[in-house]
Amino acid sequence: MSQTSARSTLADDVLDGLTRPFKELPPKYFYDERGSRLFDAVCEQPEYYPTRTERAILEAHAAEIVAATGAAELVELGSGTAAKTRVLLDAMRDAGRLQRYVAFDVDETVVRRSVEALEQEYPGVEIVGVTGDFEADLDRIPPPEPGAGRIVAFLGGTIGNFLPGARRAFLRGLGTTLGPGGHLLLGTDRVKAVDVLEAAYDDAAGVSAAFNRNVLLVINQELDADFDPELFDHVAFFDPRHEWIEMRLRARRAHTVHVRDLGLDVAFDRGEEMRTEISAKFTPARLEADLDAAGLRLAGLYSDPAECFALSLSRVAPR
Ligand code: SAH
Ligand code: AVI
Repeated sequence: MSQTSARSTLADDVLDGLTRPFKELPPKYFYDERGSRLFDAVCEQPEYYPTRTERAILEAHAAEIVAATGAAELVELGSGTAAKTRVLLDAMRDAGRLQRYVAFDVDETVVRRSVEALEQEYPGVEIVGVTGDFEADLDRIPPPEPGAGRIVAFLGGTIGNFLPGARRAFLRGLGTTLGPGGHLLLGTDRVKAVDVLEAAYDDAAGVSAAFNRNVLLVINQELDADFDPELFDHVAFFDPRHEWIEMRLRARRAHTVHVRDLGLDVAFDRGEEMRTEISAKFTPARLEADLDAAGLRLAGLYSDPAECFALSLSRVAPR
């Protein structure tokens, strides 16, 4: 019997996005194997401060965070290569608590590789890999062992890639994943000088630009489309009204793209821009308002001395 699902697929999302009056593509489609590699390369660029800053905050506060939660399980959403995660896993192991780590990501390859590596590095710890969309598939995550206590980590500022309403809905939906007494450890990038923000999304080596254009290659591959990435310029700017970075691709000349699997011809005007990502930046007030709206209460807020990035610890507020 064939299975149908009400979930949107890449084909549905691309059809929606490319037929809007202002074209747009969801950022989750950046991350095929090449996209995940390009993201890692972005993280190594001198202009891209979030990764190294969040790592430094984790190194300074992991023991305190682990002690505050008493957790024996770590679940990581959008785990990628789980590079910074080791800092938390080490702190949990040093506290004699680490029992289980769950890596959850939309890119199956990155999940498989990180699980293989972590199994070697943390013998005796249960390492679980789950592939899925964190907006739709959180029920694939095993429930916490009774009494184990859990940290759900969402690092890197990935929460900023949601639009504001979707962000709150996502936070509100975390209850079952957190389990009784569970804590959310959330990385958020902070509002700061525009030149610093814009450089982070438009590095001199052109890695962010290649990452941005990768979504076109994913659509070519998955839907038999004929996007020519060379016909699009990478655009990244800070929108001060919404306090987010917006990434776009701008058509260098008028042309039509064919998406064969959708039977769709998509006309681009010269200079037409298509949004590929937003990356929201936070003030402490916005962070608290979002947590509050989702029924979460702040239990700790950690930042770097220059206040570039923040890690917050929160838990479900008592009713
Ligand atoms: N946590 C890592 C990686 C951040 S990059 C870090 O802090 O460096 C964002 C990660 O989220 C990528 O690994 C990407 O594959 C994953 N991702 C993006 N959209 C997703 C979605 N809708 N569901 C699950 N994972 C997603
Ligand atoms: C994954 N996410 C937090 C990154 C960000 O900074 O918004 C994705 C990214 N886009 C461009 N560079 C990095």
